[in-house]
Amino acid sequence: KKVVLAFSGGLDTSVILKWLQQTYGCEVVTFTADLGQGEELEPARAKAELLGVKQIFIEDLREEFVRDYVMPMMRANALYEGQYLLGTSIARPLIAKKQIEIARLVGADAVSHGATGKGNDQVRFELGYYALAPDIKIIAPWREWDLTSREALIGFAEAHQIPVAKDKRGESPFSTDANMLHTSSEGKVLEDPWEEVPDYVYSRTVNPEDAPNTPQYITVDFERGDAVAVDGVGLSPANLLMKLNDLGRAHGIGRLDLVENRFVGMKSRGMYETPGGTIYAAAHRGIESITLDRGAAHLKDELMPRYAELVYNGFWFAPEREMLQAAIDYSQEKVTGTVRLKLYKGSVNVVGRKSPHSLYSSRIVTFEDDAGAYDQRDAKGFIKLNALRLRLLGQRDRS
Ligand code: ARG
Ligand code: SIN
Repeated sequence: KKVVLAFSGGLDTSVILKWLQQTYGCEVVTFTADLGQGEELEPARAKAELLGVKQIFIEDLREEFVRDYVMPMMRANALYEGQYLLGTSIARPLIAKKQIEIARLVGADAVSHGATGKGNDQVRFELGYYALAPDIKIIAPWREWDLTSREALIGFAEAHQIPVAKDKRGESPFSTDANMLHTSSEGKVLEDPWEEVPDYVYSRTVNPEDAPNTPQYITVDFERGDAVAVDGVGLSPANLLMKLNDLGRAHGIGRLDLVENRFVGMKSRGMYETPGGTIYAAAHRGIESITLDRGAAHLKDELMPRYAELVYNGFWFAPEREMLQAAIDYSQEKVTGTVRLKLYKGSVNVVGRKSPHSLYSSRIVTFEDDAGAYDQRDAKGFIKLNALRLRLLGQRDRS
């Protein structure tokens, strides 16, 4: 019996590793994903070795993450509950997919993760596992063990010679999840939704109040719905997002304090920092504004909440997400061009856009003489027919 564990190298997954070895007497294979969380990954290897792991997988998934997950989601302009850019949600299906690949490679019959029984992440991991390996066994230690407090966890770690970082000994102030798209923080000091998020919780953006007093202008080039260059410099998907992250960090862009509805039914309060993603999303809307027809754009906006909910709830590998994705991708054919943005003290604003496929016609829209491009007399009949039923109703109900 072998189990592939999604292993960060942190305290929780180290305890899980030991607990799996002990409770199930099975061989644990670890998988650590580099999703651009900005942490050294070699310590995870050392930790796994220390705990007797023989097969250790560490994979750089940064390009795949941005190219095949973040960018397709950005094409949809996906926002959960109007605000959340889904930074944690979008990473889970990729981790699940790799875990299943490794399970096949090493002949494991089970997979395991460190998400609790209260959250969304358990659902996202496990829907991914089941979709890709229908007969896989899943071990979710948080739902099984009796380590119900931080002290119990640390006690277990100490009893089993698992190194515990000094700052983890006291009450850990909050729980975080980080990747190239965002860092999320939940729990502890954030649990009272009336209390403002303390400054020390923010880790990847400067306080907008301390950001530069002069705005910075940048351009982002798009090709068929995906960003391909910043300030005219072509970049790979991951490098592009990193570049936008640097810009967003410096200007304090992408902070969000949100109370959201988890799939399991409870409300939770979290703080998100999505610096580059926030710039990306604004830029994408900017280029769509001149390249998408109204009908296509409005239909996308109607589908978007459904799409976002599917990603949030963990249905990335479900046919309805793939159907929506196909429609969204089809809409992006002409979404090519350049957006100019102004970054200033926590805000990102589109200030210019141009495209070889622009549908914007200054000849038609101008308030000046349009030289016959548009016949204003046409509007009279347009309005009269639109008003017909309102007039019939008015005659019946208002007179
Ligand atoms: N609430 C966010 C989501 O469901 C983040 C969850 C993970 N965050 C964490 N701090 N453990 O996508
Ligand atoms: C967790 O419960 O492990 C983190 C929060 C979430 O998944 O929603």
